[in-house]
Amino acid sequence: MNKNTLKIISKKNKSKIICLTAYSKNIASIIDKHCDIILVGDSLGSVLYNFSTTKKVSLDMMIEHSKSVRMGVRKSLMVVDMPYNTYRNSKEALKNAKKIILRTKCDAVKLEGGKKIYQIIKTLVKNKIQVMGHLGVLPQSAINFKFKGKKLIERKNILRDSKLLEQAGVFSIVLECVETSLAKEITRVVSIPTIGIGASLHCDGQVLVTDDLIGLNKIDARFIKKYLNVAKQINDAALKFKQDVIKGKFPKKKNSY
Ligand code: KIV
Repeated sequence: MNKNTLKIISKKNKSKIICLTAYSKNIASIIDKHCDIILVGDSLGSVLYNFSTTKKVSLDMMIEHSKSVRMGVRKSLMVVDMPYNTYRNSKEALKNAKKIILRTKCDAVKLEGGKKIYQIIKTLVKNKIQVMGHLGVLPQSAINFKFKGKKLIERKNILRDSKLLEQAGVFSIVLECVETSLAKEITRVVSIPTIGIGASLHCDGQVLVTDDLIGLNKIDARFIKKYLNVAKQINDAALKFKQDVIKGKFPKKKNSY
């Protein structure tokens, strides 16, 4: 672990970890002061590009958005999602993780999965790459987006996977849509922080997609809390601009040369 990820780990059982997504410099620079972690999530595929699945997100897309985000991040730990089919084996994962880090100057990468990617994560960690895990609903391979932890076998596997990820050397684990008592149990048994999204307040931290938080993304899910209605604010500003232009109220002398 390096000193940045150790700082995140040291928050466990002391103070909550705040994580939000960013896909561009402007958003990153606004949220940076309030976050411990800024995640360039492959959710950008659905949020920005209307993809039906994150499987369509490419390495180049992640790199270009991350380069923009990097310009806005000053103090938070910057984590970049490794997209689908970029970590099918240790060799491929290492090559692509190195490329992401070199091109974006991010601090860490995030991979989805447990037992299946145990060796891959070990290889990355051995090569001094900081890794964040992701369990529960895994959008890159999900058949449905139902919460996890209802069935006993599911609970056993996710609990086992959390321990395996810890052993492999991840510095934290995102738990996506995990049943409350299971998220509580995982958070209790692992020594690294859990960051929940739809995984209850028992996690060591919380993550939300910023576009959902500010009401810019038109989706509704139980785990989302809309703190702002930016869509309405943009609409109102565009309408006011249109009216001013039509009425000859804009531009004024002070806006002209
Ligand atoms: O892609 C993403 O934004 C994520 C978060 C929802 C955790 O993985």
